[in-house]
Amino acid sequence: MNQRARKKLFIRTYGCQMNVYDSARMADVLAPLGFEPCDTPQDADMVILNTCHIRERASEKTFSELGRLREERQAREDGRGMVIAVAGCVAQAEGAEIVRRAPFVDIVVGPQSYHRLPEMVARAARAGGRGNGAGVLDTEFPAEPKFDFLPPPSAQGSASAFLSVQEGCDKFCTFCVVPYTRGAEYSRPAAAILEEARRLLGSGAVEITLLGQNVNAWHGEGLDGKSWNFARLIRVLGALPGLQRLRYTTSHPRDMDDDLIAAHGEVEALMPYLHLPVQSGSDRILDAMNRQHGIDFYLDIVERLRARRPGLALSSDFIVGFPGESEKDFEASIGLVRQIGFAAAFSFMYSPRPGTPAALLERQLPEAVKEERLRLLQTVITEQQIGFNRTRIGSVMPVLFDRQGRRPGQLLGKSPWLQSVHAEGNPRLLNRIVDVRITAALPNSLAGEIVTGDFAATQAVA
Ligand code: SAH
Ligand code: SF4
Ligand code: F3S
Repeated sequence: MNQRARKKLFIRTYGCQMNVYDSARMADVLAPLGFEPCDTPQDADMVILNTCHIRERASEKTFSELGRLREERQAREDGRGMVIAVAGCVAQAEGAEIVRRAPFVDIVVGPQSYHRLPEMVARAARAGGRGNGAGVLDTEFPAEPKFDFLPPPSAQGSASAFLSVQEGCDKFCTFCVVPYTRGAEYSRPAAAILEEARRLLGSGAVEITLLGQNVNAWHGEGLDGKSWNFARLIRVLGALPGLQRLRYTTSHPRDMDDDLIAAHGEVEALMPYLHLPVQSGSDRILDAMNRQHGIDFYLDIVERLRARRPGLALSSDFIVGFPGESEKDFEASIGLVRQIGFAAAFSFMYSPRPGTPAALLERQLPEAVKEERLRLLQTVITEQQIGFNRTRIGSVMPVLFDRQGRRPGQLLGKSPWLQSVHAEGNPRLLNRIVDVRITAALPNSLAGEIVTGDFAATQAVA
């Protein structure tokens, strides 16, 4: 018999793509202990909630989900235990609170300590975990970077892969918890990034998305031992054989330097789409947010990017109802959206977060005002998004199909501009980049027909 009993691990992931990446790494670090992934908490011997603290609603989900897990564990009639762990940004920000409010939790682990999970699982078991709430808490910011201690990631097995290159943030925007939950900025060395990229390409990836809370602030050790900037890393990665698409997210306007803008014109694999959050269209609010730039600065970047890479589409994040935001400030956000013409944008009602300076500002706006502004902004954004999608009708574009659609015979993929595209096609086109003629545009997706000389490949298998 296998010495290590097989155990089932269920991870639920909230929040950003860095959490998605981290969840995969946690699964990797627990695999040698005999944990293999399963699809539901009901089957699991261990459940990890990988949490997000960015807005109040995101954070509160943790506690409601924990309540459900406790019930699930208590209801088990076969006496099987369930180690309950909370990871991610809520664990980091509210570790002590979790132990207090949910004492049945076995492990609380902050984002910088995932390499210590095996030891924590062992400690939880020794402390009689599996049901009693062993209360093993690790929310330090260890001196050693976790990346040096995590096993190499297992093959993601998908054509589109994430690769974390940078973590943490030193910007301290006044509304944001990330500098507190993820700690100081850290850039992985280029050699480690390249090794991981080669491994991903070797296991079938053709698209890599570089991740970081402040990804374009990356300034790690280069292959020559000297400090490199992000543009240099992009150029080296962009030349890797087999890499067809390169993306990066999320960027800060302050770190869009000339060299990176130039790289958008040079590196063919770099997709013509950039997520560049601006948050507000008002200089006054940007200042209060400590974004460290004004609107002219942002407009100038956009202009230079578009000059270097014609056809580049932009997306952004907006916050409405920041403390003190006047009607005029809000109008400026709407004006900026109209002026730039985003392919997509995410907008959020300002959510005061504990421990952040903006939460203490006077003139917090009433919920009703925030809701109304969100509605107005989203109407304009949606119009633009549909408008952008419509411009693609009739064109032929390369689509990376990476999933089966809901309907039989339907494939789902991504355009160069990160639009979801669906088309009828043979599943053997999965994980390949295929030309598609766009026939219809919806607010959040495009529909098309596969264009290829290989007739059989275009036929859907019903
Ligand atoms: N590092 C990225 C943002 C990470 S958080 C950047 O600098 O742009 C993702 C988005 O969540 C932010 O762009 C912002 O729009 C939103 N957000 C962050 N804190 C928020 C808060 N307190 N209330 C509402 N939205 C918030
Ligand atoms: Fe948060 Fe600002 Fe850092 Fe982005 S740059 S993670 S919004 S503090
Ligand atoms: Fe949320 Fe943490 Fe990401 S707060 S958005 S999971 S960095």
